[in-house]
Amino acid sequence: MLWQGLIHKYQKYLNIDKNSKIISICEGNTPLIKAPAIEKICGVKNLSVYLKFEGANPSGSFKDRGMTVAITKAINSGLHTMVCASTGNTSASAAAYTAYARSVGFENAKCVVLIPDGYVALGKLAQAIAYGSKIVQINGNFDKALDIVKELSKEAGIALVNSVNPDRIEGQKTAAFEVCEQLGKSPDILSIPVGNAGNITAYWKGFCEYFAEGSINKKPQMIGFQAAGSAPIVLGKAVENPETIATAIRIGNPASWQSAVNAAKESNGYIDAVTDEEIISAYKLIHSSQGVCCEPASAASVAGLIKSAKLGKIPENSTIICILTGNGLKDPETAIKTNEFKPMKAEANIDSVVKALGL
Ligand code: F0G
Repeated sequence: MLWQGLIHKYQKYLNIDKNSKIISICEGNTPLIKAPAIEKICGVKNLSVYLKFEGANPSGSFKDRGMTVAITKAINSGLHTMVCASTGNTSASAAAYTAYARSVGFENAKCVVLIPDGYVALGKLAQAIAYGSKIVQINGNFDKALDIVKELSKEAGIALVNSVNPDRIEGQKTAAFEVCEQLGKSPDILSIPVGNAGNITAYWKGFCEYFAEGSINKKPQMIGFQAAGSAPIVLGKAVENPETIATAIRIGNPASWQSAVNAAKESNGYIDAVTDEEIISAYKLIHSSQGVCCEPASAASVAGLIKSAKLGKIPENSTIICILTGNGLKDPETAIKTNEFKPMKAEANIDSVVKALGL
C-alpha cells in the first residue's frame, strides 16, 4: 500500500482534528538496518544491533516526524509564521514543511529560522535557503537562539516549532511505534543522541503508550549520549560555551532536560557523554562497515553503545536499536576532513589511471 506519512498511519495517537488538511511529505517508515559490524566491535555475546536510519526522512532527519504534526496543527489553527531556533535540522525540516503547506492552500505560510552563525553544516543551511525560509544567523549559540524565538513567538500568528512545542514530541513518538512494529517486539535497549533532549523524551512517551495499551509487553532501557564538550545533563549543570564536532548536538542548556532525565530513570537507563574522538570513530565505522551515511551527531548513539559495551553495561543476548538521527550528506565537509583517504588524480587515459591505482 502507498505510504502516506505518519499522521495517516498513527492518527488515533496524535489528536489531530479530522477536518485538518494534513501537511505531510511522506515522512516516517524509515529503515531498520541490521548492524553486524557494530555487534562485532561491542564484543558482547549474541547481540542483535539495528540502526534506525532517520536520515531517510524527506528532509534527511527525524525532525520531519515532529514537524508534520506541529505544522499541520499550527497552520490549521490559523497560524501563518513558523519560527524555530536550530543547529540545522529543525530549520531544514520546518522550512520544508512550510514550503509544502504553501502548495496545499496556505499560500501565506512563512518560515523564520535562527541559527548559530558558523556552526551549522552546509547542507542544512542550503536546505533552509532552497526551501525558501528567512534565515537569521546569530552571533551566539543554539541556547541563545532558542531564548530569542521563544520571545518572538509571543507575537500573534506565530507558531514556535521547536521541540518545546508538545506537537513535535507527539509526532516524534511514532518512531518508537515503528521500531516495535519492525522488530515485532520492544527492543531491550534504545541508544540515542541527546541535544535539546526532545527526541529521547518522545521515544520514551511512545514506548510508554504502546506498553499501556498492550502492544508491547516490556519497555526498553533508554540510554542517551551527549557530546563530552556539550554534556550539561551528564555534568548536572548548564554549559555556557558548548563545543563539539557534532554541531547538531552543540547545546548547553537543553529545553527538555528534566524529561530526558526522567526517561533514563524510569527506564533504568542513563545519560552519558562520548568524546568527539569516540563519535568520529563510530561515524567512520558506520560509513565504512555498514554503508550507511549518517551525520556526526547521529553516530553518538553508536559511540555510546560501544562505550557501554566496553564498560560491561550491555548484557548478552540483548536486542539494541541505535537511532541514526540525520543524513550524513548534510555534512560532507566532516566526512572529508575526518578521513585520511583522499581521491587520486589522473589523466583521462587508462595508463594514467592504472598508474594512479598502483596496479
Ligand atoms: N541528532 C541530530 C542529527 C540532531 O539534529 C539533533 C537535534 C539531535 C540528534 C538531538 O535531538 O535535540 O531532540 O535531543 N537537532 C536540533 C536542531 C537541536 O536544531 O536541528 P534532541
